[in-house]
Amino acid sequence: MKKLTALAFVFASVFAFSQESVDQKVENLLKKMTLEEKIGQLNQYTGDNAATGPITINANKQNEIKKGLIGSMLNIMGTKYTRQYQDLAMQSRLKIPLLFGLDVIHGYKTTFPIPLAEAASWDLDAMELSARIAAVEAAASGIHWTFAPMADISRDPRWGRVMEGAGEDTYLGSKIAYARVKGFQGNLGDVNSVMACVKHFAAYGAAVGGRDYNSVDMSNRMLWETYLPPYKSALDAGAATFMNSFNDLNGIPATGNSYLLRDILKGKWNFQGFVVSDWGSIGEMVAHGYVKDNKEAALSAITAGSDMDMESNAYRYNLEQLVKENKVPVALIDDAVKRILRKKFELGLFDDPYKFCSLEREQAALNNPEHTKAARAIATKSIVLLKNERDVLPLSKGLKTIAFIGPMVKPKRDNHGFWAVDVKDVDSTYIVSQWEGLVNKVGKKTKVLYAKGCGVEDKSKEGFADALNVASQAEVIILSIGENFNKSGEAKSKSNLQLPGVQVELIKELQKTGKPIVILINAGRPLIFDWVADNMPTIVYTWWLGSEAGNAIADVLFGDYNPSGKLPMTFPRTEGQIPIYYNHFSTGRPSFNEDKNYKSAYIDLPTTPKFPFGYGLSYTTFEYSNLKLSKKTMKNNESITVSLNITNTGSVKGEEVVQLYLKDRFGSVVRPISELKDFQKITLNRGETKTIQFTIDNQKLSFYNNALEFVSEPGDFDLMVGSSSADIRLKDSFELVK
Ligand code: GLC
Repeated sequence: MKKLTALAFVFASVFAFSQESVDQKVENLLKKMTLEEKIGQLNQYTGDNAATGPITINANKQNEIKKGLIGSMLNIMGTKYTRQYQDLAMQSRLKIPLLFGLDVIHGYKTTFPIPLAEAASWDLDAMELSARIAAVEAAASGIHWTFAPMADISRDPRWGRVMEGAGEDTYLGSKIAYARVKGFQGNLGDVNSVMACVKHFAAYGAAVGGRDYNSVDMSNRMLWETYLPPYKSALDAGAATFMNSFNDLNGIPATGNSYLLRDILKGKWNFQGFVVSDWGSIGEMVAHGYVKDNKEAALSAITAGSDMDMESNAYRYNLEQLVKENKVPVALIDDAVKRILRKKFELGLFDDPYKFCSLEREQAALNNPEHTKAARAIATKSIVLLKNERDVLPLSKGLKTIAFIGPMVKPKRDNHGFWAVDVKDVDSTYIVSQWEGLVNKVGKKTKVLYAKGCGVEDKSKEGFADALNVASQAEVIILSIGENFNKSGEAKSKSNLQLPGVQVELIKELQKTGKPIVILINAGRPLIFDWVADNMPTIVYTWWLGSEAGNAIADVLFGDYNPSGKLPMTFPRTEGQIPIYYNHFSTGRPSFNEDKNYKSAYIDLPTTPKFPFGYGLSYTTFEYSNLKLSKKTMKNNESITVSLNITNTGSVKGEEVVQLYLKDRFGSVVRPISELKDFQKITLNRGETKTIQFTIDNQKLSFYNNALEFVSEPGDFDLMVGSSSADIRLKDSFELVK
């Protein structure tokens, strides 16, 4: 034990020394900087060939970099281009290297499933690996920093950015945010890691009406209980940076919200990294009607704790004057500058500004077959089997003729989804289309006929005849439909989530053939397809699965991978149900009440969703049995061990996501009817039984009370274990006692 303590002491001292030497280097550099150069570090601009927001006119960027007036660039990618810009920074007086940031949201050259699809895998290791590979490829291409993970909880599929997050659940979202930060940052400071950026702080996903950039208004209790935990989890994973959000929160824009940035993030949570504004969000406080002009916006943002100004020019043209007018203390500027310089030192950029610019490493990283293999694996895990009523799936490899129909069969780009990186000078069209994937799979043995059938959004039915013709020649029809990749994502809020165009009409026509039809729905969000869900027996949700989409879909269709995905968001029956989510409060007249009239329900629609949170089928079946609790009462400082058996009662190997939910029967504030508190994804061979265990500790029983204290309260709890939030297989209860 003594040796261990001594070793730990040595490590701690070495780390303290190295950190102190970084802090000392920062202090030493700060002393040499002019005010103008300090403000320069707080400026970030986009490269000239890629804008991810309303672009600021600043044609003088290159000269400003040479003068040390810009600290970071975004949307510059590739060793060649980042080197060119770093060369400019090396001509500045103090040679402070630039930071290069990019939205590497779900892959760099190798594109992984959109984050919401990955969330459906419930496979934290796979998601960490996906982020790790994205980091390796991005870091090899000169990128230091990704603007990910997006950790915004959202219960509203009208909001297009649900595609970028982990869905509606706080517990799942927290676990995923943690895994993604660990994946991106790896061993931060080495050439295979990038800084993560937790966004969008905070509660951006709760925009009223699901309308992007819209206001967010909620109690602080709801903020702490439901929306903040994933950001905190990402911080606990060591996230180097945060990004504030566009929305106003309870009347104050997040960018100028000192409650969020100073009190919570840099105060209570003791965040030592830096905060970058979202694109132009500092200047946008004028449009919010929160400040009079850009100068006041700069004052508000720097005071609140926004350290770096992305693309609004507010800091660039106002901070110096605000300091001269004694409205902004230099200490405030220094704090922001030190936070940024510290990261540049920790990345090793002062030792070698070109550390991330290795052409040979870039070549190797962008052509690594292990990456595409990993992309295919997580893509298969992200697919959700919604219906398979007549066991049409898996398809037999002995089929003679398949009709592969629909507007999503042959396009490539759609499979990348929104926020795919358009890598310059690299064949970023490396995407296996759904057609290619199927043909790869069946080879010469099976004839695959194609017909587009219809467009995605247009109303023409001219293609129906061709579709019916190929259908008439086939034993099985596979129909790939959905929404285009750019109909989910930023600034893509939709009021109508129905399958667009005449896709449903095409299904109805093909249904008349009486042939088995497998429907693939491709989307970046939960869509609404009520008639299809009620009338079609075989439905697979394929999201947007990235570079290996076609191969992954074919793996699942032919049973080379048994689907295991579970929905990370509730699927509504209609837009009128939104917001709809599983962990809602009971109300005094619960929707599940027997009373026909007096209950919290719609008179024109069932209150249950089309498909519930946590739902997804398999080609096999699982039996849950033998639930045991180690005790039926526990004290705050104790825990309960929950054990149960899961048996694969079907005919093929499969994976099951065993979900554990709790219900706190009553509390000092009303408590949700059910809350996900743990899960395990397990693999079982046919006939195999495994005993799994969960631990219920006080943390899992705690919540934010009205005084914003994170507490547990004595009382009875229901414990539910199941295959989805609505498919509870085993129940028990226990009591928390003082
Ligand atoms: C965008 C997005 C943000 C992204 C940033 C840089 O507007 O809101 O998520 O990281 O700008 O592209």
